[in-house]
Amino acid sequence: MKMHKIAVLGSVLLSLAFGAKAISDTELGFRNVPLNNEDKVKLQEFKYGDKAPGESQVFDRAYENAPPMIPHDVEGLTDFTQSTNPCLDCHSPEVAKDVGALPVPESHRYDLRNAKAITDGISDSRWNCTQCHAPQAQVKPLVGNTFKPEYRNKNSKNGSNLLEVINEGVK
Ligand code: HEC
Ligand code: HEC
Repeated sequence: MKMHKIAVLGSVLLSLAFGAKAISDTELGFRNVPLNNEDKVKLQEFKYGDKAPGESQVFDRAYENAPPMIPHDVEGLTDFTQSTNPCLDCHSPEVAKDVGALPVPESHRYDLRNAKAITDGISDSRWNCTQCHAPQAQVKPLVGNTFKPEYRNKNSKNGSNLLEVINEGVK
């Protein structure tokens, strides 16, 4: 017998034993459709920001040293290789100021494994920008959230300094 069948049988027996009402798989998640059938899954309408870089408004950061969300259109900008990176055309420290963008922070120009600053280019672990930075669509969250970030200094609200504090609390 396959594992999932054993699990289903187990939960049926348990609910019989305790007289609990069985919960159908359409009541388990927020999708409200059978778990093993995607046909009726409907995505909410969503739209990413389509303002060009330079014309968008940055989002509030989620917490201190969280990777900021991308506020501008990324159409045509996400074909990364280790040696070509359209984001760095604006976010590399050499040009960022001139185009009104924030430069990548120091953490992105540091090789943590060998404890060495990188003077030319970007760390091997950072070239795939959208692995950590994502655009944000204005959709209503399915579940409310009362989390409120606390910033230890006012610069962390819209700037980051992970490399400076990365060893905090480590002995
Ligand atoms: C043409 C220049 C340009 C390119 C290319 C570009 N950006 Fe930007 N980026 C900006 C500017 C300018 C801002 C500031 C917001 C604005 O003015 O639109 C910004 C803002 C951001 C922010 C928000 C920073 C904050 O303080 O919250 C992130 C994150 C970001 N960009 C990541 C990326 C990534 C990842 C890519 C590649 C997919 C990229 N950008 C490509 C110019 C650019
Ligand atoms: C492994 C995850 C990761 C990758 C990959 C990554 N970032 Fe970040 N990024 C972060 C985090 C986390 C922060 C905030 C903390 C810090 O590093 O200082 C950040 C901060 C930033 C900031 C804000 C700087 C500031 O002073 O507030 C910019 C701009 C940025 N990244 C751009 C990029 C670009 C462009 C790339 C690709 C070349 C990239 N990042 C790749 C995780 C990542």
